[in-house]
Amino acid sequence: MKGLVLSGGKGTRLRPITYTSAKQLVPVANKPVLFRVIEAIRDAGITDIGIVIGDTGDEIRAAVGNGRRWGVQITYIPQETPAGLAHAVKISRDFLGDERFVMFLGDNCIQGGISPLIEQFGRSDHNAQIVLKQVSDPRQFGVAELDDDGRVIRLVEKPREPRSDLALVGIYLFDHRIFEAVNSIRPSARGELEITDAIQWLVGAGYRVSPYIHEGWWIDTGKKDDLLEANRLVLEELPAAVQGYVDRDSQLIGKVIVEPGAEVINSTIRGPAIIGEKTRILNAYVGPFTSIYHDCLIEESEIEHSIVLEHSSIRGLPHRLEDSLIGRNVEVSRSPFKPKAYRLMLGDNSTVGVL
Ligand code: DAU
Repeated sequence: MKGLVLSGGKGTRLRPITYTSAKQLVPVANKPVLFRVIEAIRDAGITDIGIVIGDTGDEIRAAVGNGRRWGVQITYIPQETPAGLAHAVKISRDFLGDERFVMFLGDNCIQGGISPLIEQFGRSDHNAQIVLKQVSDPRQFGVAELDDDGRVIRLVEKPREPRSDLALVGIYLFDHRIFEAVNSIRPSARGELEITDAIQWLVGAGYRVSPYIHEGWWIDTGKKDDLLEANRLVLEELPAAVQGYVDRDSQLIGKVIVEPGAEVINSTIRGPAIIGEKTRILNAYVGPFTSIYHDCLIEESEIEHSIVLEHSSIRGLPHRLEDSLIGRNVEVSRSPFKPKAYRLMLGDNSTVGVL
């Protein structure tokens, strides 16, 4: 079996973080979501992995490389425009050949891996398998309807009035029949070749499409709050580990990970939290569900339930920072200049809540 990871597309919902960089590389518990996807596929025994890339392809190539670090072989498949998930399958035909494959969306984060799923599909004679998860608001996803015997009867992409609460998780298993489907469907109202329509085509053509209900958590990390939620869930599962330096005046409470080269000086960290490589925490408080990536500085400040990306600094804040996603190379500090005022340099589409 082969793996196909979709890492093209536009990350419009995570703007401005993803204006110039790939949303799949935003870290959850200090590891890019895309790396978690590659590891899940590798852990299921698949080592031949294609990655579909778009505008941010160079950044993804630079971060992932040839895959040797994970013991896998990566083939990059450039997609000229983000014309849809089914379009991504279509252009991957040469790489996939006639082998069965798992397609995994590069921005999806799932609990528990995919080994049982791959095993089940490997043993079956099904043409496709879809992963479903009960959600409270299915309107933002593809939605599947099953009959009384649990067979897939209808799939609709982001329906206004969903007929079930079963969302399509971004993990799909296919055999070569999917190419007939993607070559037969037409673009949707949003102008994309939808994988949901391709699977509906398989159902209509009488091919066997089986559902797999996922019991653990699943997050599509497309928006800030979803990313913070994925970060919370992953941090809760990680064991504590202190590989950096923590001075005697500091306190680590609960599950805290201090990565190599990090320094915690005269500070309190209440886990679950992770402090990245070569990051310094100085006279500060880092609260639960916080991930500070590498080469950052948190000084004379308090931060909780947040993600800070690499090379950023937060200094001298009079109030605690919460529920925040801070990008790369960002500086947040208390200004020494009078009069007292907010002085901001914010990218387009930024969101700031002030006291
Ligand atoms: O996350 C699950 C949902 O993913 C499913 O419930 C939906 O049925 C499915 O259509 C998809 O919806 P999204 O609107 O969330 O897809 P998004 O545009 O975010 O793309 C998902 C991933 O695929 C993302 O990593 C970007 C990549 N992609 C997307 C498109 C449209 C490509 O590589 N090429 C593309 O043309």
